[in-house]
Amino acid sequence: MKRIFSGVQPTGTVTLGNYIGAFRQFVELQETYDCIFCVVDQHAITVQQDPKELRENIRSLAALYLAVGLDPEKVTLFIQSEVPAHAQAGWIMQCISSIGELERMTQFKDKSSGKEAVSASLLTYPPLMAADILLYQTDIVPVGDDQKQHIELTRDLAERFNKRYKNVLKIPEIQLPKHGARIKSLQEPTKKMSKSDDNQKATIRLLDTPKQIEKKIKSAVTDSEGKVYFDPDNKPGVSNLLVIEASIRGVSVDEVVDKYKDSQYGNFKAGVAEVVINHLLPIQQRYQELIDSSELDAILDRGAEKANAMAKATLTKMESAMGLGRKR
Ligand code: TYM
Repeated sequence: MKRIFSGVQPTGTVTLGNYIGAFRQFVELQETYDCIFCVVDQHAITVQQDPKELRENIRSLAALYLAVGLDPEKVTLFIQSEVPAHAQAGWIMQCISSIGELERMTQFKDKSSGKEAVSASLLTYPPLMAADILLYQTDIVPVGDDQKQHIELTRDLAERFNKRYKNVLKIPEIQLPKHGARIKSLQEPTKKMSKSDDNQKATIRLLDTPKQIEKKIKSAVTDSEGKVYFDPDNKPGVSNLLVIEASIRGVSVDEVVDKYKDSQYGNFKAGVAEVVINHLLPIQQRYQELIDSSELDAILDRGAEKANAMAKATLTKMESAMGLGRKR
């Protein structure tokens, strides 16, 4: 069975972008692959976090992974900081990365531009992400479009390690979703929908109430043409809403265009809101059952145990190939 690995940061509540770009794929993939999913809390601390909020976000994200339909009997779900091999292998990956290649990461450029001081870890985040993936001898990494460059770097680092030391690491492939690899902000539809957007109206969160979702979609920025069709360059707002509905229903964009081709924007937006609300309701119900349950802790304990065993095995091979420690 081929292996899948992916991770999501516990920073704020998961957005519809995360859901469509990542979670949706995970649920399908669990049927055919050996899937490992991670709450990457060590990535979250590359920017300062409130400790209490971080704890809550970690638990909430773990519950959401399950609430969207991941089956703990089929997948391994764990928290990154509970598997020390990630930080250890992350260090090794940093040692084989060059500062230049890390400075070229667009996410680093975006997150650091205009800031007076940024943490060193914002720069060294991609080698940690590479370690996350490579520790599990991963075949496929399902992610949204914004992670493409990080996966390319992961492949480069794995090849470099294998060449420089010993053939220890598998070279992973990226897998993007068919639609919705980059869901856009509802307020600035040329930018991606992001967890960290300060404008609350820009982002639908998985735990938003039906009223909030309806309000946000109704106030989504569109255009003045008043006609519903798909044209991402000239009609980014309308096209984004079309992609959202198509991805959620698992149908083609053409089918959604057909549904709304004679609608005015008001009805179109109400229709999309209804689809999103109805889709998220059962997820939200399941989330409420899980969030304070001991079942969630038991799943995470089991996940950490399995992940520790797998990650340790690769780390030992990496250390041995590099000559670290003593021969055992
Ligand atoms: P994160 O937490 O920012 O996002 C989690 C997943 O959601 C996808 N995504 C989107 N997809 C479509 N449209 C959007 N607007 C959108 N916003 C986010 C992301 O592509 C991602 O798949 N560095 C990663 C976390 C990570 C990771 C890993 C991922 C750490 N280690 C190992 C895969 C494998 C991140 O910050 O994702």
